[in-house]
Order: sequence, then C-alpha cells, then structure tokens
Amino acid sequence: MRLLIIVGSFLLIIVACRRDSGDIIDKTLRHTLKSAKVEVLKPAKPHDSKVVELGQKLMFDKILSGKKDISCATCHHPVLHAGDAISLSIGVGGKGLGPTRVLGEGRVFNPRNATEVFSRGLPGFVALNWDGSVSSIDDGLDTFAGVRLPPDLDGPLAAQHLFELASRQSMRGREDDTRAIDGTPNELAKIPDDDFKAIWHANLARLVGDPPGEGGIPEYIELFKAAYPDVPLEQLGIQHAVNAIAAWEIDTWTHTKSPFDRYLAGDNNSMSKAQKRGALLFYGKARCYECHSGGLLSDMGYHNIAAPQIGPGVGKKAPLDLGRGRITDKPQDNFKFRTPPLRNVALTGPWMHSGAYTTLEAAVRHHLDPKKSLEKYDANQLDPKITRNGAQ
Ligand code: HEC
Ligand code: HEC
Repeated sequence: MRLLIIVGSFLLIIVACRRDSGDIIDKTLRHTLKSAKVEVLKPAKPHDSKVVELGQKLMFDKILSGKKDISCATCHHPVLHAGDAISLSIGVGGKGLGPTRVLGEGRVFNPRNATEVFSRGLPGFVALNWDGSVSSIDDGLDTFAGVRLPPDLDGPLAAQHLFELASRQSMRGREDDTRAIDGTPNELAKIPDDDFKAIWHANLARLVGDPPGEGGIPEYIELFKAAYPDVPLEQLGIQHAVNAIAAWEIDTWTHTKSPFDRYLAGDNNSMSKAQKRGALLFYGKARCYECHSGGLLSDMGYHNIAAPQIGPGVGKKAPLDLGRGRITDKPQDNFKFRTPPLRNVALTGPWMHSGAYTTLEAAVRHHLDPKKSLEKYDANQLDPKITRNGAQ
C-alpha cells in the first residue's frame, strides 16, 4: 500500500511537471507568435460552383497548350502536392508525369522549379513566381511583360496564368512546333512572343470559337455560359478562363486548418511538443520568421540566400538566373528570390527556385552558412536526367 502511494505520488508529480512544462512552452510560444505578429489566416471566400467547375476542366485540359500535350496540372498536380516533384519542370514535348517525366527530343528544362500553388488567393499573396514577375501593386497589377492586361482579372493569381499560357517553353511550343499531337495546326506557336493579345485571343478561340459561340467546343460553350450567365458569349475574354482556373485553385488548394493554424486559433493540443519546440526555434534563435513571416510564412520580399543554380538560366544572363534583378534591373536585386511560403513544405520538394536540394533537411541546412553550402553543393543528389542534360 505504502509503495503504491509512493509510486502514485511520483506519477502525479511527473504529470504535474509535464503539464507545467507544456504550459510554459505554450505560454512562451504564444508570446513569441504574438510578438512576431503571426495572425490566423482567414479562409478564402468560396467561389460559384459553376465557375470552379469550368476552372477544374481548364486546369487539367491539354487543349490550352500549343501541341495539346501538356496541361497546367502536368506541372501542378494534385497527387504531386500541386507541383511536379522534379527539380526543374519539363514543358512542351515532354512525356510522363512527376518524377518519371522526361524531356522531349531536343528540348531543355524549364529554368525553375515549379512552385506549389497552395493558398495563393489569400489577401497577403501579392507576389507571384520566384522573382515576383507578377505582383499586386497599389494601383493594380505589375507584370514584367509590360503588356496591357485584359479587364476584370481576379488578382495576381489569375494574371499569372496569362503568362503561363504565353510561355513557349511551358505551354505554347516553339515556332517549329507547327502541329499538335493530334495532327491539328498549332496556331498558338505561330504568334510573335510580344503579341500577348493575339495569343490569349487564340487560346480562348480554341475553347469557345472565334467569335465566341461560332465553332468552339460545345461542352466549353455550355460550361462558360453556366459559369458566367450574365456575360453574353461574344463578350467572353481570356480573363473569364483564367479567373475560373484561379477560382478552382483557391477553392481546392487553400488550407487554413493545419495543426499550426489550429494552434494559432487557440488549440494548444493541435501540435506536438516537438513541433512546438521547432516553432520556438523558428520564431526565436533560428530567426526563420524574419523572412518566412506572418501566416503565409513569407514576407513576400526578395532575398539572396545563395541557393545553388542548376538550370539553363533565365533571359540574357543565362546560364545565370538573376531572379528579382532581372525584373527590376537593379544589380542589388541580383540573385534575390521571393521568400517561398512554407506551408506543406515537407511535401513539396525538390526545394529552392532551382530545385537544387532534394531533401528538406539540406534546404534548411543551406541557410546556416549559405556561402559554404553553395561552394560545397553536391549535384549528385539530382536526378541523373538533369545532370545529363547540361545542368551546371
Ligand atoms: C511546364 C510546367 C508548367 C506548366 C505547364 C504550368 N506551370 Fe505554373 N509554374 C511552373 C514553374 C516552373 C513556375 C515557377 C515560375 C517562375 O518562378 O518563373 C510556375 C509558377 C506558377 C504559379 C505561381 C505560384 C507562386 O507561388 O508564385 C502559379 C499560380 C501557377 N504556376 C499556375 C499554373 C497554371 C494555372 C498553369 C496553366 C495555365 C500553369 N501553372 C502551367 C511550371 C508550370
Ligand atoms: C534572409 C531571409 C530568410 C531567412 C532568415 C530564412 N529563409 Fe528560408 N528561404 C529564403 C529564400 C529567399 C528562399 C528561396 C531561395 C531560393 O530559392 O533562391 C528560402 C527557401 C527556404 C526553403 C525552401 C522552400 C521551397 O519551397 O523550396 C525552406 C524549407 C526554408 N527556406 C526554410 C527556412 C528555415 C527553416 C529558416 C530558419 C532556419 C529560414 N528558411 C530562414 C529566405 C530566408
């Protein structure tokens, strides 16, 4: 009996201590989160289900690409956590999905890693693409292309899609890609690169005819009519297509109920002790929050953390990728990239703008001593098909 009492009291003390240390962790973490101004994400406003239905069809339809051989979802796939699970994306001419996807004959890798597309419609998400080439600014949208955008775009997310459609490498095809894989002409590839209006017009014409309602695909005409009942067919524009894709992405891929979100909302039991200790480091000694800040875990700012570059490069400076510097033309912005949001980050490798790291640990470790990590970078971690194809 005595022994039982002793053991019992001992257990009670342990439970009390554990509760105490739990309380202390929560108290400290809540204080830290408050001073770091991390706020609960508000869920996105749901869209009309008919608009979302149209968006889903478009997201997965290869008809939006010049050769009809690639859809948005090829590079942003639900089973691959809204990305493509390869270091550098493979566009037009490629075959397969995810890690088994291979380059077409004579093609090159996209210069960058396909970002995941989670929660991109939330209000703070003002800079899209690794270099912020499509961004929200005070009086509207800023795009690197300097082109007049169609009216009534639903924010930077929808605007971003316009440039995916126009990209030769990702979707439209090269000038010599004269035919689609079903033998029909690839009218998209013939259009000069700077004639965005004509490209977007041709994209829409494939779906609903030109003028809209004449020719076109009956199923799409019905889907557009159902999604936009107040818009006469002849007034349909590419903005209706990209707004619908954005609506699908937002409704499907916005997550505001992760354990971290529930913790922020007040539930102390939503995260394990180990996770809480990690959060204390993230928001404390490790100073991750200085860039991966707020509910989105990104300051939407640009930083040069010397992530290794392995791709073919971007623009005139290829094989370098100047990142933000190419957009602003300021040398001090060279090699800066938008701080990536880290939601679901354990699932969305390979990591960094070039997909240079194939483990999350390596991506995090890189931050400890970027210069040394860059110098010691080991390309052996890459999929051999990337090293074989001239990666640096
Ligand atoms: C060949 C692969 C490929 C295809 C096809 C493709 N994307 Fe992407 N996507 C990428 C890559 C790579 C990036 C990063 C681009 C950059 O930073 O320059 C990206 C970026 C994005 C972003 C920006 C996300 C962010 O955080 O900044 C969105 C949104 C997106 N794509 C949606 C789409 C949609 C919608 C389509 C179809 C219209 C599409 N993508 C087609 C590869 C692709
Ligand atoms: C100075 C700003 C800054 C700080 C501080 C910072 N990061 Fe980053 N982080 C970035 C930028 C910028 C990138 C993207 C760099 C690139 O691709 O060129 C990045 C990339 C990442 C990635 C890869 C994400 C992806 O989708 O590819 C992870 C993971 C990450 N950071 C975690 C952390 C952690 C954990 C800490 C704290 C130990 C931290 N970061 C501190 C700016 C920062």
